[in-house]
Amino acid sequence: MGISKKILVIPGDGIGREVTLWGRTALERVAKKGGHSFTFREGMMGHEAIEATGSPLPEATISLAKASDAILFGAIGHQKYDQDPTLRVRPEQGLLSIRKELGLYANLRPVRLFDELLGASSIREEILRGTDILFFRELTGDVYFGEKKRSGDGNTASDLMIYHRFEVERIAHKAFEAARTRRKKLCSVDKANVLESSRLWRETVQQVAQSYPDVETEHLFVDNAAMQLVREPRRFDVILTGNLFGDILTDEASQIAGSMGMLASASIGDQAGFYEPIHGSAHDIAGKGIANPIASILSAALMLEISFGLKEESASLIRAVETTLRQGFRTMDIADKHTPNARVLGTDAMGGKVVEAIQ
Ligand code: IPM
Ligand code: MG
Repeated sequence: MGISKKILVIPGDGIGREVTLWGRTALERVAKKGGHSFTFREGMMGHEAIEATGSPLPEATISLAKASDAILFGAIGHQKYDQDPTLRVRPEQGLLSIRKELGLYANLRPVRLFDELLGASSIREEILRGTDILFFRELTGDVYFGEKKRSGDGNTASDLMIYHRFEVERIAHKAFEAARTRRKKLCSVDKANVLESSRLWRETVQQVAQSYPDVETEHLFVDNAAMQLVREPRRFDVILTGNLFGDILTDEASQIAGSMGMLASASIGDQAGFYEPIHGSAHDIAGKGIANPIASILSAALMLEISFGLKEESASLIRAVETTLRQGFRTMDIADKHTPNARVLGTDAMGGKVVEAIQ
């Protein structure tokens, strides 16, 4: 008795298309094996969409997203805009708007360590071993969405860092519920020694914590948390934080997993879930066929588990990644001197190996 789901694929910019192909192929393989019916549509977003339609998030993509059960996204961004901050229409607006449009307020970023990659990190193996962190990054509030201003003479600019109590409450509940299913520890990260919005954050998390007496709660300032993450990553279980701090800390945490190319994320909220690698468009390697497809495949695994409730199928993708790494296959970003017998593969060869290994 297979299930039937509509999936929207948004490849986006840079290496997005190359890697998303493999997230999608993995989903197709799972559907075939389990007798499920996944239908795929494709939508545009980002630089590609600006070039084609003038908008980073065309109406057509929004309607497709709203009519889908889940969305698999690649990457967004283009050098042209990075080098010219004066451009008004920007690819990233597409991603931010779709997060808002779909009410994707909770961004889950698991930092999962594969034993085979312990040597690929810039952090020492004995510090990393056993690390397993689940980030809950708030995704539709904070300085990302607060009012932006530029003075008439152009010499002064501001972005409003703003949180409403309900925004903190709803993601805090999600994070505490997840902590209950794990090691029952939650660390909330803020800057409450300086910021009023962080004091509201901390006060709200403290109140929500009262409903979860079985979860051990701590509060860290973001500067301290950034340091603890590389000093003793094992001390963390669930980390709950705001949009900006979460953006920064999860890039840092990707080094624990060996590479940005390994981290997947799930954005959930009121409607269809949205699944994407945490890495960006990586224009320096786009089109070269060397990008790591694993983050996209692991994003597909998150989709299977969270949006479709297919836990076993989701685990089978993670095991396939494990098997492939154990066989010694690596993409360039995770190849390191500690695995002298590693075979370095391009995107398609690596994606093919993982898909082949799905049981
Ligand atoms: C991320 C990215 C985005 C963000 C960019 C591309 C807008 O860095 O998903 O982490 O800042 O949220
Ligand atoms: Mg980021």
